[in-house]
Amino acid sequence: MLMLRRTAGAIPKPPKSKVYGFLRRFSVHPRTLSCHKLVLGIETSCDDTGAAVVDETGNVLGEALHSQTQVHLKTGGIVPPVAQQLHRENIQRIVEETLSACRITPSDLSAIATTIKPGLALSLGVGLSFSLQLVNQFKKPFIPIHHMEAHALTIRLTNKVEFPFLVLLISGGHCLLALVQGVSDFLLLGKSLDIAPGDMLDKVARRLSLIKHPECSTMSGGKAIEQLAKDGNRFHFTINPPMQNAKNCDFSFTGLQHITDKLITHKEKEEGIEKGQILSSAADIAAAVQHATACHLAKRTHRAILFCKQKNLLSPANAVLVVSGGVASNLYIRKALEIVANATQCTLLCPPPRLCTDNGIMIAWNGIERLRAGLGVLHDVEDIRYEPKCPLGVDISREVAEAAIKVPRLKMAL
Ligand code: KG4
Ligand code: ZN
Repeated sequence: MLMLRRTAGAIPKPPKSKVYGFLRRFSVHPRTLSCHKLVLGIETSCDDTGAAVVDETGNVLGEALHSQTQVHLKTGGIVPPVAQQLHRENIQRIVEETLSACRITPSDLSAIATTIKPGLALSLGVGLSFSLQLVNQFKKPFIPIHHMEAHALTIRLTNKVEFPFLVLLISGGHCLLALVQGVSDFLLLGKSLDIAPGDMLDKVARRLSLIKHPECSTMSGGKAIEQLAKDGNRFHFTINPPMQNAKNCDFSFTGLQHITDKLITHKEKEEGIEKGQILSSAADIAAAVQHATACHLAKRTHRAILFCKQKNLLSPANAVLVVSGGVASNLYIRKALEIVANATQCTLLCPPPRLCTDNGIMIAWNGIERLRAGLGVLHDVEDIRYEPKCPLGVDISREVAEAAIKVPRLKMAL
C-alpha cells in the first residue's frame, strides 16, 4: 500500500514497483478510443473512495465507489486513520474498476481531476498521492478540485442549467449557501457557524441508538432519521428552529443537537430505560428534529433568494435553486425547499440521490468543466498540496446580514 506521512500537505513519492504493477494490468484491455476528451475523477475527501471517467459531453463512461459507511457506523463516527487505511486499501481497485468499465487505459485520458480540498487531511492525502502517481507516470495534466465546487456543479451534468444559480450545499461536513456565477466564481452568502446538518443528524441518530433499530441499522444517521420520521408524529415534541431573529443566511446546528439530546435524556428517564436502548418515542423525536432542520434550511434559503433578487444577482424570470450534498437526498427537506421555491418563483433542482452523496462522477465532471473553461489545468504538480480547510468563493455574508431581509412566514405544511 502507499505510504503517507501524517502531516498535512506532504506528498511522498510512491514506490516504483507498485506503479508499474498498476500499469501492466491495463495493457491487456482492448482500447476503444473516444473522440471526446476524457477526465478521470478521484474522490477521497471523507469516507467514500470514488472514481469515474466522464467525457466532455457529460457521458459517464465508467464509475466505481467504495463506501466506508458501515465501518464508521460501528465505530460511532469517522475515525480519520481508519478512513485513511480504507482509502489506501481500496483506491487502486476502484480506479482500476473504473478504467476497466470504460475499456480505456490511463493514456487515453485528457486529464486527471482529484479532490484536494477541503476534507480530512489523511483522506485527501491518499487520493492526491495516488493521483500524482498516475499524473507523473502518464504525463497527464492535473486538475485540483474543490469538493464543494464539485457538489455545486453536479447539476450541470444532469440538467441544462446556466450560470448564475443559487446553491444550497448540505452534507455531513458542510452547510453553505452560494451564488454560482461561473465554474470557479462563487459568492458565499452564508454558512454554518458550527456543525453541518448531516453531522447533527448523525449525532442524533447515534444518541437514539438507531444502529440497533431493525429498520435502519445499516443506514447513515441522516437517512435513518428520515426513515424513522415517516412513522413519527412531529407534533408530539416542539423543537424550534435556531437563529430565528438573526436576519442573515448563516446556519447553526449544535443547538438543535443539544436540545434533542436533552429531550432524549428526559424521555429515557420517563420511560425508565437506559441510554443505548431504543425509546418508544424515537420516531416522534426523529420527526420533530427533521422538521426543525427543514424549517431552518428553508428560512435561510428563502432569505438568500430574496437577497439575490433584490441585488439583481439572479434572473427574476428564470431563477434556479440547486440543492445538493448528502442531506439533499432527504425528501422531507426537499419538500420544505420546494415550498420556498414555489413562493419565490424559483425552479428547484436536485441531482439524483446517488449524485448528491460523495462520488467520483462529480469530480470528473468538475474536471471537464474546468478543462472546457481552461481553469486550473496544471502541467506542473511540484507545488500541489491538499488543504483540509478551504472556503468557497468570495464571502459576502456580511453584506447579506446588513441587508437584514425580513422573510415572509410560509406555512410549512409538510
Ligand atoms: O455529501 P456526503 O456524502 O458527505 C459529506 O461530504 O459529508 O453527505 C453525508 C451526510 C451524512 O451526514 C448523512 O447522514 C447525510 O449526508 N445523509 C442524509 C440522508 N442521506 C445521507 N441526511 C438526511 N437525510 C438523508 N436521506
Ligand atoms: Zn460531500
